[in-house]
Amino acid sequence: MTVGTLIDYLKAQQEKGVSHVYLDSIAKNTIRNEIVTLRTPKPVKEERPPVRRTLEAVEPERSVIPSQAESAPTSVIDPASITLSLPAGDKAAQISYLKSQAQEWTPAKSLGTLRPKMIFSVGTPESNIVIVGDSPGFEEELKQEPFVGKAGQKLDAILKAMKLKREELYITNICKFRPSLPGQTMNNRKPDTQEIASCMPLFIKELGIIKPKCILALGATAAEALTNQQNTPVGRMRGQWYDFQGIPLRVTYHPSYLLRNENNLTEKRKLWEDMLAVMEHLELPISEKQKGYFK
Ligand code: URA
Repeated sequence: MTVGTLIDYLKAQQEKGVSHVYLDSIAKNTIRNEIVTLRTPKPVKEERPPVRRTLEAVEPERSVIPSQAESAPTSVIDPASITLSLPAGDKAAQISYLKSQAQEWTPAKSLGTLRPKMIFSVGTPESNIVIVGDSPGFEEELKQEPFVGKAGQKLDAILKAMKLKREELYITNICKFRPSLPGQTMNNRKPDTQEIASCMPLFIKELGIIKPKCILALGATAAEALTNQQNTPVGRMRGQWYDFQGIPLRVTYHPSYLLRNENNLTEKRKLWEDMLAVMEHLELPISEKQKGYFK
């Protein structure tokens, strides 16, 4: 199979509205070889680097990020310099307005280190709890929704054990854009402090609209940002209540940490104890069975 044939086939599928296709090992190898060839530096400057065309054709939603030079900011915009005033209306209308503002959020865009697509939040602004992770990854960017990849499935399982569903809660990220990497395909990285700071006014406004009874921070990145600590393991941050902007905040492990420690009952129990504390705070019913999980 030639690369041209494969691209034509994928384009035809894309035109038919197909967003995912199964690639057998021959197709995968064809793409891999082409990427290796394209990544090998060429002595003659080409008019347009073909690497983009190839990856866009394979995965239109998963295209490589623009090079740093292409996306380099002219000047970084201080998030504090932007006034975000909300229109009158109910919580849903205000969240929807905030989302529209986040779309072209210049403090984040001006950094030139985040991907262009903005992924805001999922759930209901009527929720009593705001669950916050670090930033969207590959799957989240593709589906335009926080926590939909493997970590999201784990989160759903934890919520199910609490007898909750994501639709009845409010789930968001501290950074609303997927952090970029050179030659990025499916790989992700955590947002850095500047990227987090650029989106912080959005998160604070979300809290102002929702007025939750508590915040649950998942993982070290979100936890450090909200408790103002650095290089502190979640194991040391968890197990207590904090205050963020007057709202009780609990910190626990990121679901992806649990995925890496599936057989570690001790760590599962610690996360569950944090969840029990959250349930108690929200005055949710807790059964004897729930109290005993992972003991
Ligand atoms: N991890 C996060 O912290 N947030 C997501 O949305 C997905 C994975």
